[in-house]
Amino acid sequence: MEIEKAPDIGFCFGVRRAVDMLEKVVAERGRLETLGAVVHNQQVLERLERMGVTVARDIKDIRGDAVAISSHGVSPQVEAELKAKELDIINTICPAVHRAQVTARRLAEAGFLVVIYGEANHPEVKGLLGWAGDKGIATMDSSFISGLGRIPRRIGILSQTTQIPSQFVAFLKEVLDSAFTRDSEFRAIDTICHDIRKRQADALDLAKKVDIMLVIGGRSSANTRHLAELCATVTETHHIETADDIRRSWFRGKRHIGVTSGASTADQTIDEVLVRMAELAGR
Ligand code: F3S
Repeated sequence: MEIEKAPDIGFCFGVRRAVDMLEKVVAERGRLETLGAVVHNQQVLERLERMGVTVARDIKDIRGDAVAISSHGVSPQVEAELKAKELDIINTICPAVHRAQVTARRLAEAGFLVVIYGEANHPEVKGLLGWAGDKGIATMDSSFISGLGRIPRRIGILSQTTQIPSQFVAFLKEVLDSAFTRDSEFRAIDTICHDIRKRQADALDLAKKVDIMLVIGGRSSANTRHLAELCATVTETHHIETADDIRRSWFRGKRHIGVTSGASTADQTIDEVLVRMAELAGR
């Protein structure tokens, strides 16, 4: 049984940066709260918790005098509420997410309806909506146009940073088909993260060569789910969180196994999966 790892595996630049910041601050302060889960990966959260980093689900739950904003960012309204409480703010937002936030604000200020292609309940998308003021819509369904009553003259579209590029382009085409009318202005901005784009392309290349793919990452991690979804279009794919999820029966008759991970999966979790796979291969 041959096991092949994707070239880009483990933390992305933004998650690495956020985790490094948290580790540094908690080492100085002894404890630290984050507003919501700082990354969507249970193993990483548990490790941080052992170091003194805990999760406050809501602003009203914050007990200490400092709070960390996650790599997904928050809306300007939430940031203002944190400032009003005079908390020290440790902002671990990924620079790529911040670029998308600035894009949403610029489009709104220029009078565009701001359409965010993404999962409306995801923290990053909630934050982006806040940056669009009262001019934003979050959706992955291009038929939203028919529910608007009057089609706005100016429509600006950006994407949640972790979406699948080809699906974003298909969404753009559908909106253009239904909303591009006389005098209308349509602006599309590619805000999909470079790391995610490369990770998805590499995973797809690997998936095409192997008999089965394992995608390691949190169940609630949007980018991990998208990786698994993509790989499943070309080969048998299993989304696992840890080595404990691996089933021996998956590998019967399989010779070549591909492994990739979401952007918030720690190296330790990946190593544990590889050790477990090597054990299975040896039997
Ligand atoms: Fe940032 Fe992309 Fe990672 S948006 S947090 S570098 S997946």
